[in-house]
Amino acid sequence: MLNIPLMTNNIQKEDIDEAVNFLQTSNRFTNGPKVIEFEDAWSQWLGVKHSVFVNSGASANYITMAVIRDLYGPGEVIVPPITWSSDLSSVFAAGLTPVFVDVNLHNLAMDEEAVLEKLNENTRAVFLTHVLGFNGLTSRLLEELRKRNVPLIEDVCESHGASMGGKKCGTFGLASNFSFYYAHHMSTIEGGMICTDDERFYQMCRLYRSHGMLRESTDREFREEICREHSDLRPEFLFLVPGYNMRSTEINAVIGLSQLRRLDTNNKKRAENLKLFLDNLDPQKYFTEFEQEGAVNYAFVVMLRNPDEDRFYRLTEMLRAEDVEFRRGTAGGGNMARQPFVRQRLKNFDASSLKNADMIHFYGLYTGNYPGLERKKIFELCKLLNSIG
Ligand SMILES: Cc1ncc(COP(=O)(O)O)c(C=O)c1O
Repeated sequence: MLNIPLMTNNIQKEDIDEAVNFLQTSNRFTNGPKVIEFEDAWSQWLGVKHSVFVNSGASANYITMAVIRDLYGPGEVIVPPITWSSDLSSVFAAGLTPVFVDVNLHNLAMDEEAVLEKLNENTRAVFLTHVLGFNGLTSRLLEELRKRNVPLIEDVCESHGASMGGKKCGTFGLASNFSFYYAHHMSTIEGGMICTDDERFYQMCRLYRSHGMLRESTDREFREEICREHSDLRPEFLFLVPGYNMRSTEINAVIGLSQLRRLDTNNKKRAENLKLFLDNLDPQKYFTEFEQEGAVNYAFVVMLRNPDEDRFYRLTEMLRAEDVEFRRGTAGGGNMARQPFVRQRLKNFDASSLKNADMIHFYGLYTGNYPGLERKKIFELCKLLNSIG
């Protein structure tokens, strides 16, 4: 049996040792100096001014959309169908309206033309997901959004280290979101990050993370100005926005700092694995023209070249028999517009109009690509996949 899990050993002994040592030698465990140290290290690694550590990637999504609504008002957000549920639920929760556009098959992100077609005076943001380690941006899309003054939010929860033209994904938009869930490129067990160069966006994220409390702002002038406007309230308990408690802990930050040291080395291995995988997969049977430039994938996307239900069934049975773990669709299971919580809210939208998303939904899956995956196993996996008639 091939036996390939989706992920293995993502939390290593050195991470646990650091966490244990921290627990034994410290007396502050909630959001504190270690969180700040991790945020600073992450900002430096990514190449942004500010990062806000939160307790999940979903929390990063929720806070980001709340801030978009506060800064730009109610309206539409352009979203992909190939993404995670919180990329949609965060838009609904903020009182914004998601507008779907289909993805392209080469990087599974929103198609540039389709995005541009949907832009209008009600568009408040484009919320692009870099799917499973592929860069989903083009310089033309960036240029057009800049020209039209439409904020871009990048969801990089599945793509830590992916890049375009040598610059990391997560640095192109107004803000970006990352997840450190166990199955991703690096893990803090649970965790997420919001990153931005924008001072105002940063301050708002800090407030939203901690109950909406003004004292979370690091901008003294801003704090003083708001306090003057609300002289009936105490500065320590001035709740400026309808915030959440989405803080993480010092322990998670310690694990993050330890993990970050290995991220680049691991990512290099993942990129090599992907190349090996795509070079050996039969292009007659499978779609193999994925954009590898700047890609850093924790998963191998296996998508049939042509729709064929029987073949897809044989494929999944074979993987099960060989104990190769997989997820149908993509990280979020495929076409998100088909999910009940979306259908209930967008009653007139025809989810089946998203043809490429449906192709991945019905005839695509992914298997694990972790740094320790042996070359031999990648060859064997391809041989197995290519043998399916
Ligand atoms: C694109 C994307 N966004 C957001 C999330 C949510 O991250 P988390 O699981 O850390 O809440 C995920 C989760 O895997 C994701 O794939």
